[in-house]
Amino acid sequence: MGRKFLVALGGAALALSLAACSGGGAGSGEKSGDEKPSDLTIGVSMPTQTSERWIADGNAVKSKLEAKGYKVDLQYAGDDIPTQSQQVDQMITQGADVLILAAIDGTALSSQLQAAAAAKIPVISYDRLIRGSKDVDFYVSFDNYKVGVAQGTALLVGLGLLNKDGSKGTAKGPLNVELFAGSLDDNNTQFFFGGAMDTLKPFIDDGTLVVKSKQTTPEQVATLRWQQETAQKRMENLLTSAYNDGSKVDGVLSPYDGISRGIITALQNAGYGKGAKKLPVVTGQDAEIASIKLINDGVQSSTVFKDTRLLAEQAVNAAEAFLQKKQPQANDTKTYNNGVKVVPAYLLPIATVYKDDIKATLIDSGYWTADEVAAGQAKK
Ligand code: GAL
Repeated sequence: MGRKFLVALGGAALALSLAACSGGGAGSGEKSGDEKPSDLTIGVSMPTQTSERWIADGNAVKSKLEAKGYKVDLQYAGDDIPTQSQQVDQMITQGADVLILAAIDGTALSSQLQAAAAAKIPVISYDRLIRGSKDVDFYVSFDNYKVGVAQGTALLVGLGLLNKDGSKGTAKGPLNVELFAGSLDDNNTQFFFGGAMDTLKPFIDDGTLVVKSKQTTPEQVATLRWQQETAQKRMENLLTSAYNDGSKVDGVLSPYDGISRGIITALQNAGYGKGAKKLPVVTGQDAEIASIKLINDGVQSSTVFKDTRLLAEQAVNAAEAFLQKKQPQANDTKTYNNGVKVVPAYLLPIATVYKDDIKATLIDSGYWTADEVAAGQAKK
């Protein structure tokens, strides 16, 4: 299932990217590799500030580059594709020496990348792979298929069908679950949903898990731009259409904490979490502080932690290697085919966080403080 989906989506994304065309700018041209950091500018384009993870990513990349003396042009695109294209065009015309790009739509930046290549500006794809272009030079991310497996597994553990050590749990089906995926224009979505479905499918096939809405295809369960409100609306619709017979939702697969919070709001508005009507098990991703509080309070079940500090560090290492005329160190040269070429990647490990893991994984590592977890808000 996962593989079939990957192939289908890859084809669609490539077709889309081939259809895209518009002009770019001219950059500052190739550098010798001997410049002082203060003579070099790194353009950093992030998708949105509505999600705190991208703010953390942007800040981490900027401060790490500045600490090494580089100039940084950090821009957020408000989840608007033309804005991001324009911002990247501008970085190129203003003479950026390296670009670090987290794309809103993985196929929409091809012409910018062409312009960057013409100006010999290396391009690093940040967490979301840019598709349909040969001009992506490096990719820094996590093992995104494993993120999906971790989310599917966390749903099974939360439901009691599996124990944390992978052994069989004591719960018995049938249990009602609903599925959510991310934005289809984000290359990661296919990996997250593919990994989760490969994990859940045997339980769906033998009737242990029942998707009452029958919505199981990526197109049916996707959430455009990963938006919380869109997820809330879809959960509300699912509750009124598939659960108006007195039946209950036991679990919801969610690929990202913002989506999880939308799902939880819809459930709470429908009376879940009060009295005997327990909230379903809801998964997540990104360890966003609002969701960590919910996990700590027993409202959300789990999240997948991806340390953005380490991701930023890898992006900075890759940028520096390019500026010194070296190839960045990759640890994966097989997985991330963007439809035109396999992009060399550095992939970081992930960790599932349940309530019991908050202290060791997030507080002791300094990612969030105990006060932030209690407040559900970042201090800085
Ligand atoms: C994905 C990313 C996830 C999550 C999501 C929504 O590309 O890998 O960690 O942040 O976007 O922002």
